[in-house]
Amino acid sequence: MNQSDVMILENVSKSFGEDWARESVVENLSLTVKRDQLTAIVGPSGCGKSTIVNLLAGFELPDEGRITLEGKPVSGPSKDSLVVFQETALMPWLTTYQNVVFGPQLRGDMPKNELKSAAESIIDTVGLREFRDKYPLQLSGGMQRRAELARALINQPLVMIMDEPFRGLDAMTRQLMQEFYLRLCEQEARTNVFVTSELEEAIILADSIVVLSNKPASVREMLQIDLPRPRNLDMLNSTEAYEYKRHAMEILHEEAMKSFKGTDTNSDFLEAYSRRA
Ligand SMILES: Nc1ncnc2c1ncn2[C@@H]1O[C@H](COP(=O)(O)OP(=O)(O)OP(=O)(O)O)[C@@H](O)[C@H]1O
Ligand SMILES: [Mg+2]
Repeated sequence: MNQSDVMILENVSKSFGEDWARESVVENLSLTVKRDQLTAIVGPSGCGKSTIVNLLAGFELPDEGRITLEGKPVSGPSKDSLVVFQETALMPWLTTYQNVVFGPQLRGDMPKNELKSAAESIIDTVGLREFRDKYPLQLSGGMQRRAELARALINQPLVMIMDEPFRGLDAMTRQLMQEFYLRLCEQEARTNVFVTSELEEAIILADSIVVLSNKPASVREMLQIDLPRPRNLDMLNSTEAYEYKRHAMEILHEEAMKSFKGTDTNSDFLEAYSRRA
């Protein structure tokens, strides 16, 4: 194992269902998550991204292959690898502050004073100081996502795993969140796995991008993103970014088209689409 490898997935496979209904969702997937880097995972809709997240976080166990975190097999959920989901998981009856301290309080693994100052500093970092005592419903969509981030950050996980954390936000808020998250990552380097279906989001945030195949998910390509840091969204207009995008789009399009093949109902669509392209 290389010192810079935090998580390693080796030939991981996962199926769901029994007998004739058995469906392979992840097949022979191998990848490495590097320390203090943001590894983005992109793939066609329904290809198995959230299943990979569940495997990384220990919510599901692989049928075959191995997943290790700092050299130790992942055998169940742990605060070392925490997931920020697409849907908000904030508790509606708790304030921002109470939501942030909820996990550590429940586990009782942080002295009270230490927890209070850590929570306050993290709430500051995500820009919610004035909303410390508000309930989730009193926060905007973007603020809720930031509160969610704070809730994960307080645990100082070895790996932050994000499953399309900005999906469902309106375009403007999503851009603001991307800028915010970019700054956060650049200020305090952190090992990150970031699943997204938005290629541009992956390009601007990531150090490397794993492009997945259609279901069953395996790695189609690893792209190293060498845009300089600190980054800003304008860099998406650069020739380099455009080239990354073109290349990844080509693969994603190929893979997405595969999901339409083999079904009668979609053959007309496929033909029409190919003629247009
Ligand atoms: N616990 C489960 N039991 C049975 N099937 C499952 C389970 N979890 C996932 N699947 C199947 O795995 C496939 C991939 O689902 P998954 O949610 O991982 O894809 P995804 O890439 O995250 O999709 P999306 O782009 O919609 O977020 C789906 O066909 C789904 O039905
Ligand atoms: Mg998903």
